[in-house]
Amino acid sequence: MQSRPARVGVTRGVSRDVHFRRETAAVAARFDGPREFGAGNASRFAHLPRPSRPSMAAPRSFAGPKAWSWPSMKIDDSVDVADRNHGVVVGRGNRHCRERVLTTHVEASNPGAGDSTCHLSYNSARMDTRFASDNTAGLCPEAWDALRAADTGACASYGEDEWTSRATDAIRAQLKHDCDVYFVFNGTAANSLALAACCQSYHSVICSDVAHVVTDECGAPEFFSNGTKLLPASTVDGKVTPAEVARLVTQRSDLHYPKPRVLSLTLPTELGTLYSLEELRALAAVARQHRLAIHVDGARFANAVAALRVPAADVLSAVDADVLCFGAVKNGLGFGEAVVFRNRELSAEFSWRCKQAGQLASKMRYLAAPWLRGFESELWLKNAKNANDCARLLGERLAQLPGARLVRPVEANAVFVELSPAQHRKLHEAGWAYYTFIGGAARFVCSWATSSADLDALLDTLTS
Ligand SMILES: Cc1ncc(COP(=O)(O)O)c(C=O)c1O
Repeated sequence: MQSRPARVGVTRGVSRDVHFRRETAAVAARFDGPREFGAGNASRFAHLPRPSRPSMAAPRSFAGPKAWSWPSMKIDDSVDVADRNHGVVVGRGNRHCRERVLTTHVEASNPGAGDSTCHLSYNSARMDTRFASDNTAGLCPEAWDALRAADTGACASYGEDEWTSRATDAIRAQLKHDCDVYFVFNGTAANSLALAACCQSYHSVICSDVAHVVTDECGAPEFFSNGTKLLPASTVDGKVTPAEVARLVTQRSDLHYPKPRVLSLTLPTELGTLYSLEELRALAAVARQHRLAIHVDGARFANAVAALRVPAADVLSAVDADVLCFGAVKNGLGFGEAVVFRNRELSAEFSWRCKQAGQLASKMRYLAAPWLRGFESELWLKNAKNANDCARLLGERLAQLPGARLVRPVEANAVFVELSPAQHRKLHEAGWAYYTFIGGAARFVCSWATSSADLDALLDTLTS
């Protein structure tokens, strides 16, 4: 197969420091005295200990997130957020962290409430993020080696280099398809730009109601496609059904409804479940019947392939994907996801889309080289298998605990479990971080780096 250079992008410009200073000033300017979240209930937090390290207290000027729902509580400017949060400070230089300070506060006061008010549970004085997400894991050693190996002086930029060319060829070989491949920095960019390439502004994308594209990308898919609408489908355990796709496509055909153009599927789903090959074929059939393009959010594609135990090419053939957003960051890399067009008509002018979106890496070799290494000796599947195996074991062990209940089968690398308030409290006190707003239960995610010692540590806390 002939090498074709891949093209892709870099986020340049304003440094984080400058961004932070500007943002801090803006947030400070907005803060104006007592701030209510819900009905007001500051006394609920009075029992929490004072900060042990006052010098690290969170800035007072935090305005609080506006878009999330919160339980009844009141923040006023007479008390530092950190005062009522037992000194829980993740850092001063990052607004996201400060938002989570409040979240901790919520969970500390109401452990295991299990509703949308609980986002991330942790006690960051002793925060342990091993199971909070596969994003919390570091780089796998091979990714480091690949970065170092690619760091050999000057080479061509913007994807015209040897590593990029070899990595794109390696992806084509894995997927057994002459695809067009583009490396971008992260999954949101990959999904948004891929969907934009499939759509006109008046189109719509059918996706699951828990799809990352609709719940966690801050409107980026709509933004990059100039208004394409996402149509969330009701799901069972995070999976879209053919009947639901057909319903959404056929319920309207008039000009006032955004014309369905794409079916977007996440493999594995955001709820850690897997479509079987038969389910994928059925979804592809209904999509084709209604002339929908098929987009796969494969942020954890490796976990899906490892769990299905069939070649990646077979998974993509079953779903007849036009475009796959092939993730590797959750599987051991630090940055760089691949947008892979099996339908090359859709990738016309995609390089310009990447460049305009700030996603064309000038030093693309650093995005590409770890990919190349990942395909050697099936490392990408080994990493994913480790994550899946650990999640399965964790699920089995959690299910045996009195008071705990798995809310759905563990089919990839995430475990969703209902825990008792006492169990939440134990985890919180020990500093374990985990989300409770996804999938209606506590979520524990395993990664390439998870070990049996990690599982033991979590279980020890719960059984102590
Ligand atoms: C299913 C799914 N898609 C895409 C992404 C990509 O997100 P990011 O932009 O954070 O890389 C994520 C990240 O958690 C995800 O879970």
